[in-house]
Amino acid sequence: MTRPLRARVQLHALTQNLARVRQLAPASRVMAVVKADGYGHGLGAVAAALADADAFGVTTIDEALVLRAALANARVVLLEGHFEGDELGVVVEHGFDLVVHQTRQVEELAALTAAPGLRVWLKVDTGMSRLGFAPAEVACHWQRLRDAPAVADDIVFMTHLACADDRDDPMTIGQQMRLTEARGEFPGACSIANSAGIVGWPDTHHEWVRPGIMLYGVSPFPGVTAARLGLAPAMALESRVIEVRSCRAGDSVGYGATFRCPEAMPVGVVAAGYGDGYPRHAPNGTPVLVDGQRVPLAGRVSMDMLTVDLRTRPHTRVGDAVELWGPGLPVAEVASAAGTIAYELLCGVAPRVPREYVR
Ligand SMILES: Cc1ncc(COP(=O)(O)O)c(C=O)c1O
Repeated sequence: MTRPLRARVQLHALTQNLARVRQLAPASRVMAVVKADGYGHGLGAVAAALADADAFGVTTIDEALVLRAALANARVVLLEGHFEGDELGVVVEHGFDLVVHQTRQVEELAALTAAPGLRVWLKVDTGMSRLGFAPAEVACHWQRLRDAPAVADDIVFMTHLACADDRDDPMTIGQQMRLTEARGEFPGACSIANSAGIVGWPDTHHEWVRPGIMLYGVSPFPGVTAARLGLAPAMALESRVIEVRSCRAGDSVGYGATFRCPEAMPVGVVAAGYGDGYPRHAPNGTPVLVDGQRVPLAGRVSMDMLTVDLRTRPHTRVGDAVELWGPGLPVAEVASAAGTIAYELLCGVAPRVPREYVR
């Protein structure tokens, strides 16, 4: 028997979630954010399922090349631009779009004489203090890019939202105002909204939206389920019970003996551990589905295994199906139990876990 752990990816869920984005932001074009290997789902397959998107956002040249191989004509945007000048050759050859957020990048683009028509997204820092030009610097960089012979005329203004997942936080409105001010009278499209902006802040939609997490069927709002937002989870992390132990009262389970059996009880061993991307910090009580029924994690997560308390499911057998997260158990719930976010769990599914695609 091969090890039973796998990440099953429903490709139609991705397509359906993209349709939901279009329903929520009907006047906007959609850049599907597929960096980090399609948020852990597998970039090539994700790209094919989202082929209808108007552009794709990635971080590395390697990711951009995978996309180009999957979709020959796709518009591919390098979300942090080029890291070194010597990447520009590949960028030009494949016609990738560049986000420009640093003076160095502006200078290197201004020095390019060949390959007119490079498409550029000018990133403005409106409050993240991460990447982007200060609003006061925007006019000068916009003009330099506009004058650069290799750069296409339709420069898009973009910024990234810091607090859009909190509908009561005034930060989002402030960021939007700062982008509008920075842009002034310059022509060009705008792009602000991530998933939380798309769902919760219609005023941020503008010409381009940039959904990530919602495409994978996860709610961008803590406390609001994906189902309520009309999103379908794309990934199920599935495994099986590989051992059932009859423990005695007082027996300890796993490293550090963090779970001690309060009574004689069955303990199930599941083939999934932190070496697969299951969070090691998931505490006792984190839900796990065994044949569709919730049971609590019991004991510390090991590299290749985890253990569950089967007192409510004493008839469990070796081979019973386990869902670590998926349609029956939202990844956001597991993440919250483990003190992290769904993004980290999805992106962290290890390469050794086979991805199985359902078409
Ligand atoms: C620049 C940019 N836009 C959009 C997104 C998508 O964000 P989300 O996954 O919250 O929709 C990201 C993700 O981190 C990003 O870095």
